[in-house]
Amino acid sequence: MQQQDSDSDHKQLELQTNSTKFHVLVGLTGSVAALKAPLLVTQLLEIPGVDVRVVTTDHATHFYDISEVPVCVYRDKDEWEIWTKRSDPVLHIELRRWADLLVIAPLDANTLGKIASGICDNLLTCVVRAWDTSRPLLFCPAMNTAMWNHPVTAQQVATLKGFGYVEIPCIAKKLVCGEEGTKYHVILGQFNPQTRKTTRGNSVKVAQFHGKTVDLATLIISIFGIVV
Ligand SMILES: Cc1cc2nc3c(=O)[nH]c(=O)nc-3n(C[C@H](O)[C@H](O)[C@H](O)COP(=O)(O)O)c2cc1C
Repeated sequence: MQQQDSDSDHKQLELQTNSTKFHVLVGLTGSVAALKAPLLVTQLLEIPGVDVRVVTTDHATHFYDISEVPVCVYRDKDEWEIWTKRSDPVLHIELRRWADLLVIAPLDANTLGKIASGICDNLLTCVVRAWDTSRPLLFCPAMNTAMWNHPVTAQQVATLKGFGYVEIPCIAKKLVCGEEGTKYHVILGQFNPQTRKTTRGNSVKVAQFHGKTVDLATLIISIFGIVV
């Protein structure tokens, strides 16, 4: 377990790639659903053979306490503090090298739009822009109904699916603002662990990378289990 540094410290990279564990990188964006981040990470760590790191947007940090996340959380300032000269590591490249799988939960409307159009103006979107598309990327949209219903959302979600990324679709639930709305995570109603398919036809497979495997179904059920 890594502990967070104080704001004035430079973070040490904890990204050894020679581990036999399956490396799950969790991306957090500025949806109120990010308040589940400590639970989500804790739950993922309970899956045998899984190791976890987090990359967060600055807006996401308004919704959870970084000190409650039991693994290293990387943020924008780390990218710039770690690199001071040519021989230094570039954090977003080290993170994409380390990760066997990226799960962005929650994915807010802003970062959805950025990913769909290739914008990479922070650590998380740089990781995604540099992502090796042969590795799985799961995304869990989370936004107010009004945002979700705007026609651009469907276009952008379709674009991400076109890249080969797997949507963990929304469910409707009570929002913090008091409205009924969409929040991330579907699964139990729409995901059949036997067939490993959602009702939308997404296949959910065992992910394999560098000889390491993780049962994506277990992973997704884990994600879902903490948010319903
Ligand atoms: C209290 C609060 C809750 C928010 N919840 C959401 C949300 O659930 N989904 C969303 O798309 N945006 C939400 N936003 C707006 C995003 O935080 C905003 O678009 C921000 O710029 C996202 O930045 P990021 O994508 O870099 O994290 C919320 C904003 C506030 C102030």
